[in-house]
Amino acid sequence: MADSSSPSLTPSAMGRVSGWLTHWGISPLAFDDTLSLISPLLTVTRLHARVIAKQSETPGATTLVLQAGSAFRGLRPGQFILFSVVIDGVRHRRAYSPRSIDGRQDRFAITVQRQPGGLMSNHLNERTQVGDIIEIDQAGGAFTLPTAAPAEVLLMAGGSGITPCMAMLEHLLRSQAPTRATLIYFARGREDRIFAQALDDMAQRWPQFNYVAIDSVANTANVPGTQTAQQVLDIALLDQAAPQWRQVPAYCCGPAPLMDAARQLWLDAGIGAQLHLEAFAPAKPSGDTHAVHTVQMERAHQTRSFSAPGDQTILIAGETAGLTLKHGCRQGICHECTCRLRSGSVRDLTSGARIDGEGQPIRLCVSAAMSDLDLESLN
Ligand SMILES: Cc1cc2nc3c(=O)[nH]c(=O)nc-3n(C[C@H](O)[C@H](O)[C@H](O)COP(=O)(O)OP(=O)(O)OC[C@H]3O[C@@H](n4cnc5c(N)ncnc54)[C@H](O)[C@@H]3O)c2cc1C
Ligand code: FES
Repeated sequence: MADSSSPSLTPSAMGRVSGWLTHWGISPLAFDDTLSLISPLLTVTRLHARVIAKQSETPGATTLVLQAGSAFRGLRPGQFILFSVVIDGVRHRRAYSPRSIDGRQDRFAITVQRQPGGLMSNHLNERTQVGDIIEIDQAGGAFTLPTAAPAEVLLMAGGSGITPCMAMLEHLLRSQAPTRATLIYFARGREDRIFAQALDDMAQRWPQFNYVAIDSVANTANVPGTQTAQQVLDIALLDQAAPQWRQVPAYCCGPAPLMDAARQLWLDAGIGAQLHLEAFAPAKPSGDTHAVHTVQMERAHQTRSFSAPGDQTILIAGETAGLTLKHGCRQGICHECTCRLRSGSVRDLTSGARIDGEGQPIRLCVSAAMSDLDLESLN
């Protein structure tokens, strides 16, 4: 439902407008620029959203509520949206996992956890204000519940990995699905637990919701050891919290150690296909630190060379060598860094697969060199 803050053209009307413009030889992008003088949310090709509320969740995380323009096609709980923000003159893109507000298709909230030294997460926490307009993409991603509500579901989250799980839980509660949901949620402590109060309230009023909050840094990367034993994700915890865990769809989002533990447990149980994983940060390259490969890259009829160590992504290696390489999200999602592999081999860090041979597309931000490479930039 559109309201006074939401322009009233429907997505299909937007599509027709775009078609007419192209038919009459008018660039939809130029038309967008004119429309955006009236309202930045009234664009046909580029999508925007207005920040309509901002609130602190924890000392390190902030929620932004956004009103999307009419061309936004809505989202499924658990999906992500790419946000584009210009910081110090450079456009950066990052994914965030929105949750619908009151079930509306055009209004959603994101909760952003600050990362130490992180560009976008600190910008969104500190500098973004109510009234700001942010460029967004349509929602995407397959970390979503089955279309027909399952009888039971298991969600496992660590830290900011709670955001897509919260979108799913709110959806199940709002739609009065007959699903029994268990959430196992690791955080350093209550102060850092995003949505702590909302989850307590949800557990109070939703009898089919089994909420297991665990204070533990055992699954958190780069946290020095503590004096006390820390709870990890293991079979004993799963058997206790969700005895049917081997039979139900399971979702896990959080730090790499938590997701590695879940992946191994589900593989060992022979039910790997039942586990859905969402990584917020790509895996670190684990290649040979001593192996340094030579990368040749052709872009716009110019060929440049740089060295790529086996323990760096090709994007970082190129940037370290002083090159400006086309990129967007740095997370393997937007494909702006895609190159064609003419020769050589790379490791895809999102799947662990080795990619060889002529003509294969590779994403520089989530690939590590395994040999000398000859690449052609596609952007
Ligand atoms: C599908 C998807 C959904 C996401 N949803 C959310 C969400 O709802 N809320 C949210 O807060 N974030 C989410 N993220 C992470 C988000 O996209 C950014 O990666 C994060 O905000 C950091 O961006 P930055 O620009 O601040 O950090 P950068 O400047 O890109 O990186 C700075 C430093 O932080 C490290 N770093 C980056 N991201 C992480 C991370 N997630 N965990 C640990 N270290 C990291 C980097 O290795 C680097 O050292 C999601 C990511 C993906 C891929
Ligand atoms: S920068 Fe987005 S996929 Fe590589």
